[in-house]
Amino acid sequence: MILSINNIIKKFGNFTALEINDLELEENKYYVVLGPSGSGKTTLLRIIAGLEFPDSGKITISGNEMTNAPAWKRDLGLVFQNYALYPHLTVYENIASPLNVMKMPRNEIIKRVNELLRVMELTDQAGKYPAQLSGGQQQRVALARAVIKKPTILLLDEPLSNLDTRVRIDLRDYLKRIQKEFKLTVIHVTHDPTEAMALGDEVIVLHHGKLIQKSSPRELYNKPNDIFCARLLGAVNLIPKNNLNINDNMDYDLLEIRSEDIKFSDDGEINGIIKSMQFLGSEILFNIDIGNYNIKVRGDKFDDNHNEGDNVKLSFIKSTMNFYKSGKRIEHTENGKFNKIPE
Ligand SMILES: Nc1ncnc2c1ncn2[C@@H]1O[C@H](COP(=O)(O)OP(=O)(O)O)[C@@H](O)[C@H]1O
Ligand SMILES: [Mg+2]
Repeated sequence: MILSINNIIKKFGNFTALEINDLELEENKYYVVLGPSGSGKTTLLRIIAGLEFPDSGKITISGNEMTNAPAWKRDLGLVFQNYALYPHLTVYENIASPLNVMKMPRNEIIKRVNELLRVMELTDQAGKYPAQLSGGQQQRVALARAVIKKPTILLLDEPLSNLDTRVRIDLRDYLKRIQKEFKLTVIHVTHDPTEAMALGDEVIVLHHGKLIQKSSPRELYNKPNDIFCARLLGAVNLIPKNNLNINDNMDYDLLEIRSEDIKFSDDGEINGIIKSMQFLGSEILFNIDIGNYNIKVRGDKFDDNHNEGDNVKLSFIKSTMNFYKSGKRIEHTENGKFNKIPE
């Protein structure tokens, strides 16, 4: 384990900002910490960085206990939302600056900086000053500078939040690339579920300072631990069992059916009326009244033959449904099968 966190509690006054019992991270993986604003993401990152200290608990980095060690002893790279580059230094000098401080031999510095300029596609910008670069380029310089010392762990706090959508999506590729090329362990904090899914080998979900789930993006999306995770990952159809008017022998109170797992079909089992639709080009979002629930259906452009007010028939893909009891997801069982819809 490159990082172990045990029974960490961090309070601000009476308010518990973070309470994590057990979190173990492996080397050479991209971890994303995902949670809404105020869930404790930055606090967790600052505690790992040694910029904040827990009230109790233990932090171990590469086998050494570091709970109360200062930041400079931890050998970590840090990048925040605001790329604090040195304005009076060129791109090359900015990236080289941590190595100059270390008094590394000049040849080695040149080799390392050139390698990073290549990976981050900044070679042509090496002689420019930060003010001459776009926001995305500046953040690439900040990333290069953060990894030039080959840190044990690279910590990123909302590193893409200040960038335009298109640049943000481009930068994800650079982040992935830099992690792979230098075999880094990355801990990347974000409130954006799409970013978390796109980047994470594993996603760690925080809610009110507690760890709710740690799993691969696929598992998080397909099998959320609870309805908080489900909603965070875009679940819009959480239908109360009572609204389904059915008697099945499963004990649950909410059924989740993904909006992309509902299809228009002439022999569909569910009748509905289209209340409204949003045409978005690559997809169409339908709001459909199915009796006592307004279900959201994500169609594609071939579903554009429907109109508001139409009576439609829908079929549900059953294999991807999830069931929740008191907020927690429960597993299907053989003798407790959802049987509203024939197999
Ligand atoms: N220095 C501080 N003093 C008081 N409260 C703080 C401090 N830092 C963070 N908090 C509180 O702790 C909670 C978690 O904050 P933070 O870790 O910044 O969340 P996130 O990064 O997920 O938005 C928030 O409610 C925040 O107001
Ligand atoms: Mg934060």
